[in-house]
Amino acid sequence: MTLNIAVLISGRGSNLQSIIDNVESGYIPNANVSVVISDNKDAYGLKRAMNHGINAVFIDPAAYQSKEDLDNALLDVLARSSTDVLLLAGFMRILGSDVINAYSNRIMNIHPALLPSFKGLHAQKQALDYGVKITGCTVHFVDEGMDSGPIILQKSVPVLDSDTEESLSERILAQEHIIFPEAVKLFAEGRLYVKGRRVHIL
Ligand code: GRF
Repeated sequence: MTLNIAVLISGRGSNLQSIIDNVESGYIPNANVSVVISDNKDAYGLKRAMNHGINAVFIDPAAYQSKEDLDNALLDVLARSSTDVLLLAGFMRILGSDVINAYSNRIMNIHPALLPSFKGLHAQKQALDYGVKITGCTVHFVDEGMDSGPIILQKSVPVLDSDTEESLSERILAQEHIIFPEAVKLFAEGRLYVKGRRVHIL
């Protein structure tokens, strides 16, 4: 059986690229990126999808009256792509409960901080402003809160005195590109077991 992966993006799509590359290389076994969905028509990630012959779909938030309608449109695309797992890779919206419930423990997000520190936007700047010496990135399952679901993998990254938001973001991003595919590989291998807040790796 092939695992059908859907990826939601809003922009650059470098994490999307790392997923595509690791599926193509076989590091993530028996899997296929079946659709890439963006809420931004200019997202470079849509081009990345097309370059790999992957169905690239723009869902225009402005075309829907309510958040529920937008979520239903999303659910429709996901169902048509026989989605097994949904990856949020720089997707800048909060999913509604219909989507969360339909894919319970099958939605993963990558966040550029060591959760539960520095949730939300500009996590790298939050870390710099706070003055932490170590930050990092987190892959977690998505629940109805913001950046709050059970944690799958984390990787720490040092904060240097000379860091700017850009240099720190770049150092974190390099680790994101490692742990996101790793988490998806574990999922594809059936090795993630969620018990309460804890994700056990079998
Ligand atoms: C990454 O830093 C990710 O952690 C955050 O948004 C950024 C997306 O970058 N959620 P990209 O679009 O994957 O290049």
